[in-house]
Amino acid sequence: MSEPMLSVDKLEVVYQRAITALQGISLGVAPGQIVGVLGTNGAGKSTLLRAISGFHGVDDARVTEGTIRFEGRRIENGEPHRNTRAGIALVPERDKVFPNLTVAENLSVPVASSGSRADMSRRQALVFHHFPRLGDLRARTAGLLSGGERQMLAIAGALMCGPKLLLVDELSLGLAPVIVSDIMQKLVQIRRELSLTMIVVEQSAAVALAVVDYGYVLENGRVVLDGDATRLRDHPDIREFYLGQSSAGGRRSYRTVKQYRRNRRWYG
Ligand SMILES: Nc1ncnc2c1ncn2[C@@H]1O[C@H](COP(=O)(O)OP(=O)(O)OP(=O)(O)O)[C@@H](O)[C@H]1O
Ligand SMILES: [Mg+2]
Repeated sequence: MSEPMLSVDKLEVVYQRAITALQGISLGVAPGQIVGVLGTNGAGKSTLLRAISGFHGVDDARVTEGTIRFEGRRIENGEPHRNTRAGIALVPERDKVFPNLTVAENLSVPVASSGSRADMSRRQALVFHHFPRLGDLRARTAGLLSGGERQMLAIAGALMCGPKLLLVDELSLGLAPVIVSDIMQKLVQIRRELSLTMIVVEQSAAVALAVVDYGYVLENGRVVLDGDATRLRDHPDIREFYLGQSSAGGRRSYRTVKQYRRNRRWYG
């Protein structure tokens, strides 16, 4: 792997000085990579993205151990606007868009703090090139958009910050698979055309493993498995827990999976 753009080392994140959400997380992201972070509810995926973007402070969380380096500089517990300016943009899990503003207004908000007027028109043209649908809907109130359009707007808003590293939290949430697949392919195209680096967080392993170069699986705030997409897709635990494929080809219930996990060490 080339020199990482982002490196997270033994990271611990604690909410409200009481709830430890991440423990000893280490990962690296090389320039141009799409890295996936997988895991079930409460594994710590969103916390990780929030800590990298600096938005964890909003929820009264702190990095209490370990480091986050972006392009060699320490950024843990940094101000979110500084991290944005350094080139990190987050598409959050919730509150993705301003529902009372139009599409065009939504796109002008991020730039107000991170660029000039010329930057804004250049980036807006780029965004409408990648998401022509948003161009058609530019005067529409964001609250009236469909789920897929709203997700596109959230990604477009993040792109308006001119990021080097794009963090995308649960793209697939509440969307039809065909729309998710379209937007994922769009991300791959954007990565290529803009030379971006990405971390995508997904509960749906099938969605993530279709596009990522490398993935990390989180459980209870720790990395329990990592590898390139092929290794993860073929890994029996991933097939069993996340792709819902047992060796016999049937689907397992979550409860069966839990039972299976209790009886078997997860660490390979
Ligand atoms: N604002 C908060 N205050 C306190 N604890 C929190 C807060 N947000 C998350 N946590 C806790 O931190 C842990 C990790 O949560 P996180 O939201 O990062 O998980 P996740 O992997 O993104 O889950 P999901 O797939 O449901 O989005 C959980 O135990 C959760 O209860
Ligand atoms: Mg989450």
